[in-house]
Amino acid sequence: MSQQFDAVDVIGTKRDGGALSTAQIRWVIEAFTDSRVAEEQMSALLMAILLNGMERREIADWTTAMIDSGERLDFSSLDRPTADKHSTGGVGDKITLSLAPLVAACGVAVPQLSGRGLGHTGGTLDKLESIPGWQAELSNEAMMQQLNDVGAVVCAAGAGLAVADKKLYSLRDVTGTVQAIPLIASSIMSKKIAANPGSLVLDVKVGSGAFMKDLDQARELAQTMVALGNDAGVRTTALLTNMDTPLGLTAGNALEIQESVDVLAGGGPSDVVELTLALAREMLAGAGRDDVDPADVLADGRAMDSWKAMIRAQGGDPDAKLPVAAHTHVINAPSDGTLSSLDALAVGVAAWRLGAGRARKEDPVQAGAGVVMHAKPGDEVKAGGPLLTLHSDDEERFARATDILDGAWAIADSKESVPKPELIHDRVS
Ligand code: URA
Repeated sequence: MSQQFDAVDVIGTKRDGGALSTAQIRWVIEAFTDSRVAEEQMSALLMAILLNGMERREIADWTTAMIDSGERLDFSSLDRPTADKHSTGGVGDKITLSLAPLVAACGVAVPQLSGRGLGHTGGTLDKLESIPGWQAELSNEAMMQQLNDVGAVVCAAGAGLAVADKKLYSLRDVTGTVQAIPLIASSIMSKKIAANPGSLVLDVKVGSGAFMKDLDQARELAQTMVALGNDAGVRTTALLTNMDTPLGLTAGNALEIQESVDVLAGGGPSDVVELTLALAREMLAGAGRDDVDPADVLADGRAMDSWKAMIRAQGGDPDAKLPVAAHTHVINAPSDGTLSSLDALAVGVAAWRLGAGRARKEDPVQAGAGVVMHAKPGDEVKAGGPLLTLHSDDEERFARATDILDGAWAIADSKESVPKPELIHDRVS
């Protein structure tokens, strides 16, 4: 048992702008995890952290205390290096689906512990569960076996990693304290460091559909997480990428699986291909395998073979027909021109309202629901031609989805006035 403190004194230190000691942090995380510090006390401390911030040393101590609240995985018995990826979440972000099998096919094992979606961003597990037979839950032993045999696993994060984070995250959610950079960085990195990969690439999203709305905030978050990872012995880099407009041309579970399969088959939208390859290069470099060009492995079908093996290993049928929504509704372009914007947040909320996402953890999702985009900013559109197709099993959902999309896109007369949006803003190492 660590040194004892009084919760009110710990709160007072942060309320008055001081730095918490290593011992105070260790005590408060342990005592909160086993309910000796009350939720109202932790709520006050979280708000003081949001308002007054934390030094780098405090963030590192907070992260270490969260890691120590749970188990650490160990992949050292594998015959290959391991690399992991984390995205801070965005609309249409299906990159894990093509990236994990691609990197595995390049000779680096990818243990990808993922979550289900809540709110307007979709969860990787919800997407994969639209494949008939596919199972998200694996024991640690089954995960190791699959990493040995196939090289890639995307599965549900077990309850054992960073136990304190689950309790803290629920409290942050209801106390308006999700947004604090020290708390976001420590929450993400405690789980990633506990999973213990050799290297890690972070995809920090910036824009309307992301947590971080502006580039400076996103850079600060990325720098904080990269330092935490490297200090803990996980080679970590980050890309800052655009989330003003959705990634790819689909948002929704089975729709995004189909788009990822298109990428693995050598097609798919250019932004999804570009980001998959950029993140694969970061992961391969971190794992010491930058001699392999992932573009070759994507082009010659080895990444597709690895996808099929990964899906089969978890009970799924990669060749099965994917679920399709019962109804569609098309939104047409009102005039000729060039699409100048298409708001990520509105598309994400529309997909959610169509049934692709959930409002509460226990809600079901519709596999076929979502939005198909027929154009992205910079593309030409024709008057009366389709702009967006909405998919849902319930026709009555279309009205609320079209409401949120009203005003979410714009058409310019001339192509010259619409610069092609930049996909990758920056890299942090
Ligand atoms: N994702 C997490 O896991 N934690 C946060 O705080 C934010 C995003």
